Amino acid sequence: MIDQLYRKAVLTVSGQKQIESLVRSRGWSVAQRFVAGESAQTAIAAVGELAADGILSNLDLLGEFVASPEKANEFAGQVLHLLDAARAEGIKPYVSVKLSSIGQGQTVDGQDLGLTNARRIIGKAKEYGGFVCLDMEDHPRVDQTLEQFRVLVGEFGAQHVGTVLQSYLYRAEADRASLDDLRPNLRIVKGAYLEPESVAMPVKADVDANYRKLVYAHLKAGNYVNVATHDETIIADVQHFVLAHGISKDAFEFQMLYGIRRDLQKELAAQGYRVRAYIPYGRDWYAYFSRRIAERPANVMFVLRGMLKG
Ligand code: FDA
Repeated sequence: MIDQLYRKAVLTVSGQKQIESLVRSRGWSVAQRFVAGESAQTAIAAVGELAADGILSNLDLLGEFVASPEKANEFAGQVLHLLDAARAEGIKPYVSVKLSSIGQGQTVDGQDLGLTNARRIIGKAKEYGGFVCLDMEDHPRVDQTLEQFRVLVGEFGAQHVGTVLQSYLYRAEADRASLDDLRPNLRIVKGAYLEPESVAMPVKADVDANYRKLVYAHLKAGNYVNVATHDETIIADVQHFVLAHGISKDAFEFQMLYGIRRDLQKELAAQGYRVRAYIPYGRDWYAYFSRRIAERPANVMFVLRGMLKG
C-alpha cells in the first residue's frame, strides 16, 4: 500500500509542468544513469559494452503518445533508422516500441496508424533477422495492443514480434491464456503506470504472487518467457522452478533495465542464463525517467542530490 502511495505521489508530482521543466533543464546528468544517451549511436555503443559482459540488448527509442499522424510517422521513421543503424554495425536488431508513439488510436486511410507503422517496423526487423517487442502502456490501451499483437503475429510470426503482460492487472492471467494459441513470446513485468484499484492490484505482495503465477503458467505451456524484473527473490524462485520442471535455459531469458542491477545482470549471464538489458535512449526521456524514480524511494534522493550538484 505504501509502495502504491509513493508511486502515486511521484507520478502525480512529475506530471506537473513546472516540475517537468525543472527536471528537464537540470536533470539530464542524473537521467543518464537510466538512459543511454540521446542518439542511436550512443545506444548502439551501449550494446557493445553489454555484449562484452555476455549481456544481450533490447533497444528502445524513448517516446510516448503522440497526437498527430505526422509526428507518429516521424517517430516510426526514427525506429526504422535505428534498425538500419544496428544492422550496419552487424547487430541483429531487437527493439521495443510503444504503439502510442507510432500512431495507435489515429485512423489514416481507414487503418489504425499504429498498426500500419508497426507493420513497417516489424517487416524491416524480420528482414534483418530481428525482433520487436510491443511495450505495454496504461490499461486503456491493453485491449487494442493485444488485438494488434494477434494480427501482427499472424502476419510476421511469433519469432519476430512479442508483447508484454503486467502482473498488477487483474486481467493478466486471462489475457495470457487467451494468447496461448499463438505460442507467444511474452515479457512479464509488474507494471509501471499509475492505475486505479478497479483494474490493478493495490498490494505489492499480490502483484508479486501474480507475477510468479504468470511466469510459471507461460513456461508450463511451453512458451518463451522474458522474465523482466530486478526482484532477486522472484529470480531465484524462477531458477528453482525451471530446475524442478526440467525446463531448459533456452526456454526463457531474464531482462532488466539499463542502469539497474548491472551486477546481477553480469552474474546471471556468467551462470549461463540468457540476460537482456533494455536500453532506452533519445531526447524524450522524461516520462521514462519519472517511472524509474517512482519505482524506488531511494531514487528520489539520488535525483535531488544530482540536481543540486548541477
Ligand atoms: P520491484 O519494483 O519489486 O523491485 C525489486 C528490486 O529491484 C528493488 O528492491 C530494487 O532493488 C530494484 N529496482 C527496481 N526498480 C528500480 C529502479 N527504478 N531503480 C533502482 N532499483 C530498482 N512496465 C510496463 O508497464 N510496461 C512495459 O512494457 C515494461 N517493460 C519493461 C521491460 C523490462 C526489461 C523491465 C525490467 C521492466 C519493464 N517495465 C515495464 C517496468 C516494470 O513494470 C517495473 O515497473 C520495474 O521492472 C520495477 O519492478 P521490478 O520487477 O524490478 O520489481
